Amino acid sequence: MPEYLEIAVEIAREAGALIAQLAQRPHEIAYKRPADLVTDADRRSEALIVERLHSHFPKHAIVAEEGSGLESDSDYCWYVDPLDGTTNFAHGFPVFCVSLGLAYRGEVIAGAVYDPTREELFTAERGAGAYLNHRRLNVSKTRTLSESLLATGFPPFASNHEVNMELFFRLTQLSHGIRRAGSAALDLCSVAAGRFDGFWELKLNPWDKAAGSLMVTEAGGKITDLAGRPFELLGHEIFASNGHIHEESVQVFSEVMAQRAPRA
Ligand code: IPD
Ligand code: CA
Ligand code: CA
Repeated sequence: MPEYLEIAVEIAREAGALIAQLAQRPHEIAYKRPADLVTDADRRSEALIVERLHSHFPKHAIVAEEGSGLESDSDYCWYVDPLDGTTNFAHGFPVFCVSLGLAYRGEVIAGAVYDPTREELFTAERGAGAYLNHRRLNVSKTRTLSESLLATGFPPFASNHEVNMELFFRLTQLSHGIRRAGSAALDLCSVAAGRFDGFWELKLNPWDKAAGSLMVTEAGGKITDLAGRPFELLGHEIFASNGHIHEESVQVFSEVMAQRAPRA
């Protein structure tokens, strides 16, 4: 394992242990916008991660969700989600994680996602595979949408809800079902681990998807936007799948979008 991934793992474990410990206590909840929560755990986890990353890699840039990142003209940039699944965390639903992704010139080269509830550590290095607790990951072999278990998410603000409800409705009819577990980073890791056959979301930030997107491609899966165009870390949409169901799903996305009533 390269040094940067070893250190990312160490930090993800440490921050994961912190949020697991804080999960046992009452939380201070604040609102960034209605239904967009932030807790003391998000902030404390981010402070720990940024401090550790900066002390190991003082020249690297850091983009962190709660705003304490560091600018730099380095080719290396860390994308940090200190607590992915904040709404779950705040309600005591145990699906949340820490996600660290490292990009070199805009391309993700390493990722570590740690789920402290299940003690599951997902790691990936570009060209060297994806692992769950040191076991090599492979996407599922499911061939058709009708045999697939899918996942999606809804951003904590309303703009894209309506169209995603329509996608949710249609894909529920065409598959084994859709899960909305509330942590995009873990959803992507679940595609990499073959637990989900596909996952889409319309408006994610780079810290939600940097590490998880590499897990999927390194596990043999495919990542694009909903129209099947190349994935962009700084873009909003994502569709990750085992590759086999990709085309069929993209077709459904485009049919649903095309059938939407034009707005008055
Ligand atoms: C959210 C989660 C959720 C996804 C939202 C994200 P947060 O991240 O990943 O599953 O649907 O779009 O914003 O706020 O819990 O870090
Ligand atoms: Ca997130
Ligand atoms: Ca977060």
